[in-house]
Amino acid sequence: MINNSLPSIIAIDGPAASGKSTLGRSLAERLGYLFFDTGVMYRAITWIALSLDMDLRDEAAVTKLAEEAQIDVRPPSKQDGRAFDVIAGNRDITWDTRAADVEGNVSVVSAYPGVRRALSAQQRRIGLRGSIVMVGRDIGTVVLPEADLKVYLDATAEERAKRRYNELIQRGEKADYEEVLKKVIERDRIDSTRAVAPLRPADDAMILDSDKMNAEEVLEHVLELCK
Ligand code: DC
Repeated sequence: MINNSLPSIIAIDGPAASGKSTLGRSLAERLGYLFFDTGVMYRAITWIALSLDMDLRDEAAVTKLAEEAQIDVRPPSKQDGRAFDVIAGNRDITWDTRAADVEGNVSVVSAYPGVRRALSAQQRRIGLRGSIVMVGRDIGTVVLPEADLKVYLDATAEERAKRRYNELIQRGEKADYEEVLKKVIERDRIDSTRAVAPLRPADDAMILDSDKMNAEEVLEHVLELCK
């Protein structure tokens, strides 16, 4: 369905668990585009740092790691619900990047300017190839301000915590809703108050509230915007 009148670079930003990845994945599928969830790069660096027992407060060491780490995001090798493989070195860390200790530390890692510089440059290079749906926090504002279509997907913290909680339960993990909600609010605070590339809608972004729409409705709405 690739057609010259369609936007080639589509940026989807928004807070944690607002439905960005679900939207990005299905939109890319419908358009025959590449789906690139940039959050996995920050998660992968966080996972590597934790697995090396690094002190995450050591900004210089974490930045060096982000500059040197070999992270690869590839088409999915397994049908276990993943949208892609995340590879660090030779190891498949796709599900490791979703673990609670990564979840709890990734905001700190992603606030470091040097980490952002290293990862944004890689994201930009990939995004400029076009025919891509890129999902993140700063795609429309910093990584690819020239994106042809920018969507900012929002939802209340309570609704997003409910979704994250259900996701964890479905994966067989233990979860407590109040705890999940606390973490969502804390992550919002860090993501939107950091000095570099804070979470905010681009001036020319279409703001959608996914509280009031289900995933299918959000997708259909964005497909209309693409036309
Ligand atoms: O979308 P996610 O939950 O996988 O993102 C993980 C973390 O990475 C989140 O705390 C915000 C950060 N992130 C970012 O700062 N910029 C991006 N483009 C994508 C994610």
